[in-house]
Amino acid sequence: MKRRDFLLGCGASAGALGLAGLTQARARAAQELVIQPASFTFRDRPTEGMVSLSPDAPPPVLYGRQGEAMRLSVRNAMPDYTAMHWHGMRIDNAMDGVPYLTQMPIAEGETFECEFTPPDAGTYWYHPHCMTMAQMAHGLTGVMVVAEAEDPGFDSEQVINLRDFRLDEEGVFLPAFTARGAARGGTFGNVLTANWLDAPSYDHAAGGLVRLRVVNSDTTRIYKLHLGGAEARIIAWDGHPVAAELPMPGKDEPLLVGPGQRVDFAVAMPGAEGQSVALLAELPGRGSRVMARLRATGQSLGRDLREVKPLTANPVARPDLTNAEVHDFVFGWTPEGGPPNDGFCGSMGYSFWSINRTPWAGDAAENVGPLATLERGKSYVLRLRNESPNLHPIHLHGLAFVPIRSNLRKLPPLMTDTMLLLKDEVAEIALVADNPGDWAFHCHVIEHQKTGLTGYIRVT
Ligand code: C2O
Ligand code: CU
Ligand code: CU
Repeated sequence: MKRRDFLLGCGASAGALGLAGLTQARARAAQELVIQPASFTFRDRPTEGMVSLSPDAPPPVLYGRQGEAMRLSVRNAMPDYTAMHWHGMRIDNAMDGVPYLTQMPIAEGETFECEFTPPDAGTYWYHPHCMTMAQMAHGLTGVMVVAEAEDPGFDSEQVINLRDFRLDEEGVFLPAFTARGAARGGTFGNVLTANWLDAPSYDHAAGGLVRLRVVNSDTTRIYKLHLGGAEARIIAWDGHPVAAELPMPGKDEPLLVGPGQRVDFAVAMPGAEGQSVALLAELPGRGSRVMARLRATGQSLGRDLREVKPLTANPVARPDLTNAEVHDFVFGWTPEGGPPNDGFCGSMGYSFWSINRTPWAGDAAENVGPLATLERGKSYVLRLRNESPNLHPIHLHGLAFVPIRSNLRKLPPLMTDTMLLLKDEVAEIALVADNPGDWAFHCHVIEHQKTGLTGYIRVT
């Protein structure tokens, strides 16, 4: 297939094609997401040049329900091009939001009508996949919650979107990346936020059971998390329910949550009003930092963690390891390569990284084949080898996979869409290729993604 042929095929751009009456009726029922300039006060004065879905607030949490259609109308009110991706959702390829691969970039004034039915419940998120660095670094990362068909019985829930911004003393954006950072572990922000706030505190019923959904939507930072002051349990990882009992992370062994990853905790709130639970991050050289708090209010509900019902597993097919074909992928620096051709989607101007020693030629590059072609319905093992000293959260669109082994550690078999590869790690992941299409496969440190560490996998 030629890479631009889908334009008419998927009828994506309402602006270009015009809306038929039926589509218009649907569009009215759709939730409109307007990508627009924003400003927000992090310190004392407003930071301009942000990108969000409203002029002065973070992108909202989008709510859906497992097995029920979601209609999202993505309108671009920015002068730049964009495209919106629904991270972790196993939906139709045409709705995946990857420019040139699954749709054309959305121009200023255009609208992309998105309709999909989430097969899985859990914590997901959304972000642009065109002008990815510029728009994500300036704010455009939001959380999606897909509720279980059956209520798991929490008293309340709390969404925490962790991400950093890079600002100077005046609250003005610093460049989102440096060449030095891009060629190494990435460029880090200096203003750490939870829901764009500095250590916000949220009230929840004393003695109640809270579902705490934590998302790392940062472009670079691998958060090292733990909780303080609560009895809690990890109940989901990257959207999917965790069946096994996982050890709770602590200060000395925090939970590594890479960019793109999510963790859900069941938290039993303290029984006395005013006591609080802290979500803590361990920062290099700086010790623990409170990212957010849950504060107990009112009379104790007296709930017990043991009352939390196990979540129902999502309908993800289990790979058959006895018949799985193995594909190898090597992640490392690039031996060569000019700047990628990203068309309308913003280039960082370098190629530092590669998959299988070939840097991604760019979002808009022509005649770039898939890294692997998988047959629909078959099981596969992908062997991921990190040849670099840096960590890489390797993300695959449209499919869920399960880690099966590593040369460095014992990996719990947690269903996921993002595998955080450690230094010198060789990890094997397994999946059933049951969702047809061209699925982006890349590092979620955006500086790595945009400087070569990208490709795609085709399921036919
Ligand atoms: Cu969260 Cu290709 O992205
Ligand atoms: Cu994704
Ligand atoms: Cu990386």
